[in-house]
Amino acid sequence: MIIIQNGQLVSPEGLTRADLALDGGRIAAIEPHIEPGEGDTVHDAAGCYVFPGFIDGHTHLDMESGSLVTADDFTTGTRAAVCGGTTTIVDFATQDKGGTLNDALDTWHKKADGKCSCNYAFHMAITDWNDQVKAELPEMFRRGVTSFKAYMAYDALKVNDAELLEILQSLKPFGGILGVHCENGLLVNELQARQKELGHFGPDAHPVSRPAEVEAEAVNRLCYLGKLAGTPVHVVHLSTELGLEEVRAARKKGVKVYAETCPQYLTMDESRYKAPGFEGAKYVMSPPLRTPADVQALRKAVAAGEIDTIATDHCSYNFKGQKDLGIEDFTKIPNGGPGIEHRPMVVYTSMVQSGELAVTDFCRLLAENPAKLFGMYPRKGVLAVGSDADVTVWDPEAKTVITAARQQQNVDYTPYEGFAVTGMPKAVFVGGVLAAEYGQPTGLLAGTYVKR
Ligand code: URP
Ligand code: ZN
Ligand code: ZN
Repeated sequence: MIIIQNGQLVSPEGLTRADLALDGGRIAAIEPHIEPGEGDTVHDAAGCYVFPGFIDGHTHLDMESGSLVTADDFTTGTRAAVCGGTTTIVDFATQDKGGTLNDALDTWHKKADGKCSCNYAFHMAITDWNDQVKAELPEMFRRGVTSFKAYMAYDALKVNDAELLEILQSLKPFGGILGVHCENGLLVNELQARQKELGHFGPDAHPVSRPAEVEAEAVNRLCYLGKLAGTPVHVVHLSTELGLEEVRAARKKGVKVYAETCPQYLTMDESRYKAPGFEGAKYVMSPPLRTPADVQALRKAVAAGEIDTIATDHCSYNFKGQKDLGIEDFTKIPNGGPGIEHRPMVVYTSMVQSGELAVTDFCRLLAENPAKLFGMYPRKGVLAVGSDADVTVWDPEAKTVITAARQQQNVDYTPYEGFAVTGMPKAVFVGGVLAAEYGQPTGLLAGTYVKR
């Protein structure tokens, strides 16, 4: 058995001084004091918080987009995840146009099985809705997929409003949840073309082509479709105050809307696109970084409990050789940025350490809520006897500086370069196996598929 002694156990309800025993992949005991027996390994958590392992509900690993593939695959991405304190990710298996959901799930299992340092589950991204795909839904649930994704933007991925409504209606009998990329894709295409007509080809044209209204209109439309279908909706990577206002308005009307945001929208603003040379390309993601007022509005919403989860949308492309394919044309810059390793440290430092967010709410946003939303609770997301032994021991005083030179993410930059961290994971257990210590991997591939 592994005994974690002397720590403060964290739950959304409060802190408890107790020891934990991990055995056979599960939490075997939680007691004020657990006396180690012969052969037990003791891990001292004095001065540390002990969290249920963090869950990142939005990652893109080993994802193909046109001729490109993301810089991180399941080996490097999940290794980076555990080094930051994340013990479970939910990645996106994505249906090919003309393909089946079952084939997509097979493909993603091949990408991930046997390669993961942390646990992994899959959302299923539906890109081509038809009767045959609808008939596959029961099989998806049998295979452990309870959450789905649809895009309202990106020509290669998006579905139309009628399809979105039907997907929502079809998920209802199963209690499935649909996460949606909320941007009006037709408007994005038009506004990108207008930027180019004006001769604006640099990264700073990216946010201009995707203004807040493009997100807010799509959030509004999704919420009404959810209302019509009577199915909960999940707005992923919410980035604007205008979009947040639509979430609030829909909730007032009784629509069940969950909202996710990401560390990048809580800590950086659109001034990054004005960086010299082509540097702004490092921040080309969709939705884009927003105004300082948006950042403040989202931070307040996180602290007020209006945001349900904080995930990364980790989608890494190298600056050299991938992002620079768009040096002549911002619309050719592959969209996305890295973050799977740094999310807990960035959010803890910038919001908990600063006094804006209680450590209990940090636990709710990074562990309990994603576990509940994605059908993993109480197996995950809570420290309880019988729950999986996914545990993050957090040293609130440890300091480091984030830099690409020392990161585990397999990408040649980090948007958080030079970010001074206070609070980092001392030890990370995945299914009772020590996966990382103070940001360094043990190399053990303890991650298993989470059949939900
Ligand atoms: O720019 C981003 N976010 N790329 C990843 C795909 C998505 O939209 O979530
Ligand atoms: Zn998206
Ligand atoms: Zn995404």
